[in-house]
Order: sequence, then structure tokens, then C-alpha cells
Amino acid sequence: MRKVIIAGNWKMYKTRAQALEMLQKFLDQVYETPEDREIVICAPFTALETLSKGLHGTRVMLGAQNVHWDEEGAYTGEISGPMLTELNVRYVIVGHSERRQYFGETDATVNLRLKAAQKYGLTPILCVGESKQQRDVGEAESVICDQLEEALQDADQNNLVIAYEPIWAIGTGETCNAEEADRIIGIIRKQLKNADVPILYGGSVKPGNIDEIIAKPEIDGALVGGASLMAKDFTRIVNYSPAA
Ligand code: 13P
Repeated sequence: MRKVIIAGNWKMYKTRAQALEMLQKFLDQVYETPEDREIVICAPFTALETLSKGLHGTRVMLGAQNVHWDEEGAYTGEISGPMLTELNVRYVIVGHSERRQYFGETDATVNLRLKAAQKYGLTPILCVGESKQQRDVGEAESVICDQLEEALQDADQNNLVIAYEPIWAIGTGETCNAEEADRIIGIIRKQLKNADVPILYGGSVKPGNIDEIIAKPEIDGALVGGASLMAKDFTRIVNYSPAA
């Protein structure tokens, strides 16, 4: 059985005080959420320790948004696997399109980060996805397959989550329609050696579209940006009901 995961990516939002405020509201509301889904919050580094304490004893897992490939070293501005696991971080996003676009992340560095995450006991959430221009010229599938092939070289597919995030759907309010997301995720699954890897959809997931997205057979959950910042919206998303 493939695991269902709803992960929030807070990106560069929330001070520690704001993170705690959101957490308290969110935890008050999710105690009745069915156990069949894993809930993850991928927070900025500065909020991790606060959230780690706040999440202790709850079912919500902690995630980070990046990890370096070395255990330690002269890498200003980076963070290592052991620094994250010490704070009970369980998941880490690697290869997000914003890292690729604004910070020069390449498939090669994504591969190094992904393997380091696994080596230090974290579960990587590998993001792949095409730009609008690549989609318009019919290259979506080939771009995604290339990203997967490089990022997954020598990786352990038993400790892995993938997120399909079409770049044109991120933060734009323009969701990829559920059929198309399902089709692409089916293609991604065919590239994998392990058919049980959870594959999430990300890109303008909201309370109003989660039920339709999650109802699709290939889609195992969501990676949620903007709508994970508000307790009310994120609660509605984790409480999705595919039958509705
Ligand atoms: P939005 O949900 O804000 O479109 O962001 C998606 C995303 O990038 C999650 O990683």
C-alpha cells in the first residue's frame, strides 16, 4: 500500500512566533483527522527547533526545505543532515523548482542532496516539474524523466517521496488539472524501480481542489505551499475526503 502524505512547504514564511501560533491553531483542529494519512510541515530552519518541541507527541512530522551533501564543512549558508535529524526532522525537500530557478540547483546537486538525506536518515521529497515553455513545446515528459534519472542515480527507492510540481502551477492559482497531474504521475511511477514510492502533486493546491486531486488513482497526496500557511486552509486540506 502506498502511503498518503500531505506536506506543507512553508518556504520563507513565518518567524518562530508565527510558526508557533499557526501550530497551536492547527493542532487544535487536526486531532480528528483520519490516521490513514501522514501530515508533514516543512518549515524554515529557524522554526525547526520550536516546531520540534511543539510537535513532540503529535502525529505531525517535521520536514526541512534543503540539506547539504556533507556532514559538515566550510559551506556558508548550508545545513547538514545531522543538524536536521538532531531536531527530529524526518523529511527534507530537495530540488524544489525555486531552488533550481533562483539558487542554481542542478540535477547533479539535487542527486547529492537526495543521497545525503537518505544517508543521514531523512526521507527526501524530490520535486520535479516542467516550466510553461517546456510544456508548450511538448517537452514536459522528457524534462521530468531526465530530472528523475539524474536525481535518482544510486538512490534508495525504499526511502523516497516524489512531488510533481509543474512550475507554471506554483503560486499562480493555476492548478494543473487533476487528470493531467494523474497522467504525469503515472509516467513518473513507470520510471521508478519501486512502485510503492508515494508521489504527490504540488502547485496551487487549495481547500477547494484537494478532494478532486486526491481522488485520482496515481496521486498519493499533496505538497502545499501558500495554503499550508493558514491553519484553517491546511486543516481542510489534510481533512480531504475523496468521496465528496
Ligand atoms: P503553492 O501551493 O503556493 O502553489 O506552492 C506549491 C509549492 O511550491 C509547494 O512546494
